[in-house]
Formats: sequence, C-alpha cells, structure tokens
Amino acid sequence: MTDKTQNAMWGGRFADGPDAIMEAINASISFDQRLYAQDIAGSRAHAAMLAAQGIISDKDAKAIREGLLTVLSEIETGNFAFSTALEDIHMNVEARLKEIIGEPAGRLHTARSRNDQVATDFRLWVRDRCDEAVGKLSALCMALVGQAEAGADWVMPGFTHLQTAQPVTWGHHMLAYVEMFSRDIGRFTDARKRMNECPLGAAALAGTSFPIDRFATAAALGFDRPAANSLDAVSDRDFALEFLAAAAITAMHLSRFAEELVIWSSAQFRFVALSDRFSTGSSIMPQKKNPDAAELIRAKVGRIMGANVGLMMVMKGLPLTYSKDMQEDKEQVFDAADNLMLALAAMEGMVRDMSANRANLEKAASSGFSTATDLADWLVRALGLPFRDAHHITGSLVAMAEKKGCDLPDLNLAEMQSAHAGITDEVYSVLGVHNSVASRQSFGGTAPDQVRARIADWKARLA
Ligand code: ARG
Repeated sequence: MTDKTQNAMWGGRFADGPDAIMEAINASISFDQRLYAQDIAGSRAHAAMLAAQGIISDKDAKAIREGLLTVLSEIETGNFAFSTALEDIHMNVEARLKEIIGEPAGRLHTARSRNDQVATDFRLWVRDRCDEAVGKLSALCMALVGQAEAGADWVMPGFTHLQTAQPVTWGHHMLAYVEMFSRDIGRFTDARKRMNECPLGAAALAGTSFPIDRFATAAALGFDRPAANSLDAVSDRDFALEFLAAAAITAMHLSRFAEELVIWSSAQFRFVALSDRFSTGSSIMPQKKNPDAAELIRAKVGRIMGANVGLMMVMKGLPLTYSKDMQEDKEQVFDAADNLMLALAAMEGMVRDMSANRANLEKAASSGFSTATDLADWLVRALGLPFRDAHHITGSLVAMAEKKGCDLPDLNLAEMQSAHAGITDEVYSVLGVHNSVASRQSFGGTAPDQVRARIADWKARLA
C-alpha cells in the first residue's frame, strides 16, 4: 500500500509518499514521545538564542517559545495526537507548533538538524536518569545504614563459598552493600559529568553557517559547555552506554543482595522476615509467603545488561556520523532505566521493612565451627606456635568435635590438650562469637566499634 501524500517536513524532493511498511520501520514516535519535555526545552533555548543572535526576529522567537509551551501543556494533559506519519517527537512537536502559530514555526529549525536535536534531547533525558539513580541509591544506602545501626553488634555467620566462615556482625554485612551502592553513585555521578556537554548547534554534522551562540544554548540547558566537535556531537552515544554500564553494575549488586534475601527469608535460614507489604502468597499453598520482589530484582540484571550489550552492538562499527541505526538507542535505555528505578525503589522498601531475627543469626553464627580461626590465632598468640601448625592442630579439634556431634566450645580441656598439651582453659574465652567479632578491630573489620565508626562516616557522607 502506498501513501501518495508527501512528507510535510522533508518531502520536497519526493514524488511519492512512503510505503506503510517504510513508515512503520522508520517511525520512532511510539517510544521517543518520552522525550517531549527535553525536546521542547531544547527548542525553546534554541529559539531564544536565534533571536539573541539576530537570526530570527524577537517577535517570531516569542511566538515560538509561547507556542511550544502550549504544545507542552497539550502533551502533559493528554490532549496531543501523536502521528506516525510525522515519524518522531521532533517533527510531531514542530508540526503542531505550526498549526498553533503558523509561519514562524518554520523558522525554528534554522541552524539545527534532528541529528543534534535528538542527541541533545536524549542526553538531557539520560542526565535526569543519572540524577534519579543517585537519589534512589542514596535512599537505599540510608535504609541500609538504618539496618546497620539497629544491629551494629548482632552476630551472624560470615560466609565464603556459602559455607560458614567466621562470625561477623549484621551491621558490617549491611554496610558492605552501602560500599557497593555508593560506588554505583560514583559511577552515575562520573558519567553525568562526562555527558554534560551540549550537542545542540552541531546541526546535521558539520556545524552551521549561521552566527549561533552554542555557549548560550549549552548554558540555558544546564550543560557545562558545548560539545567541541560537531561530528562527534551528533554521533556519540557514549553517554547512554555509560549510563547502561553503571545501571548494569548496580543491577548486579542488587541481584546479589536480592539473592541473599531470598536465602535468608527461607524456612531453612530464617535470618530475616520480609514484610507482608513486600511479599506475595501462593494461590495453592496457603502457608507460603514468597519473596517475589527480591526474585524480580535478582532478575532485572538480565534485561539491563542486555540493554547495555544491545546498544553496544548497535553502535559497533557505525561510521561517522549519524546513522538511522542510532534510533535504536532509545527503547533499550528507556526499558533499562524504568526497571532500574523500580528495582531500586523496591529494594529500598524491602530493606526499610525487613526485620532481622537476632536470635537466629546468633545461633547460626555459633554453629559450623565459626570460631576455628580464633582458636588457631590463640595458639599463635598464647603458645607462640607458627600459624601453619596452629591451623593443623585446630583442624584436628574440628574433626574431633564433628565426630562427637558438638561444637568447638563443647570440647573439654582434656580433649583440647590431646591435640596440644600446652592448651589452657583460657582458650574458651576466644571461642565465643561475641569475643570473636569484638576482636576484629582492624580498620574495616567486623568489630562493633568499627561498624559504629563507619556508620557515623556514612551518615555524614549521605546527609
Ligand atoms: N528519530 C531520529 C532518532 O531517533 C531522530 C534523528 C533523525 N535524523 C535523521 N537524519 N533522520 O535518531
């Protein structure tokens, strides 16, 4: 089927209109309408600059700027008819502007192209998402600090290989995630700084012969400066890739914590109880309370990393400058950003609501020979043994306890001395989990004093 109508925006050299399938593959309005606010802000800044430079009249600029506000409110109130024939948000906005203000609308596109326009709009959108991610990550960190403060000295098993390793404190474990999520904040902050250069005025690719002021439009849109090479300005999508990379690492961190929550809320662990508000039931098993939010958060890294890989593949091998391939940049970023924000909000809610079971944490910490390293360290300190020998002696005591079906502190002194005659009953003082964690005073260690000091640091940093 062929539409005989010429495209009103670029149809001058065409005798025939696009095939319906051409229109379908070409149009981006179904998704890039999300850029409407950025598009209108960019156009308003551009019009003001054109007038200030004497390129269009003040009267036309005023009509354009006011007309764009009308378009904005039409879109925001749901009174705007988006048209596929008009391809994208840029042409939809301009065509509607023309209906509202007439001839001056045709002057808005002086000294610019959709290539610099879309690069600017999309940067503004991604920049906002960086800010949003930083805000949501900070809120999540505060929720984790709250958990850490409540249980700074609660003892739980620390794991390696998901096997009991050494006792640690709940507060310390919570703060490990604060470290991770604060590095994510750093990545979004760095990416934002790097992307904060304005492509507008690069025009199609080569710059323009009109005497524009790119510094003025850059400043009006909150950019630090105009992008310095017009070819790079219209063809660069690093800002979107950096956002996706930061998002993928954040989602990976979220997935690790989500996995712990799934394990910890199981009947076999019972380390935490998730609130009803962040759990779901089963339609067949009445007893079930499922950690669905945690599971979905655990899964989000798949689509977010997929978006990162997907856009990398779109950009790979593209010659300078703009190619229509690059229209495929948006849906992946939109989807990744939506899901990242949702996952961050859900995680924050879960963390704020969840209650750790102090007694179960301590019980688990006290089993599994978690203080074996403390015993070995004591043999080194008290008896002057080389650590390797101490390790071996402790190992034999673990084997003895395992055979008896008890834990290390349950072995009597005679049994202890059968492994090394020099052992005294002072050894029992290091076998308790509270002494164990309290002794780990090295900077960054799990001792409650260390945890409390780090909590104070984080409160100051996150405030
Ligand atoms: N819809 C396009 C995109 O998203 C806008 C830029 C179109 N430029 C062009 N020369 N066809 O990339």
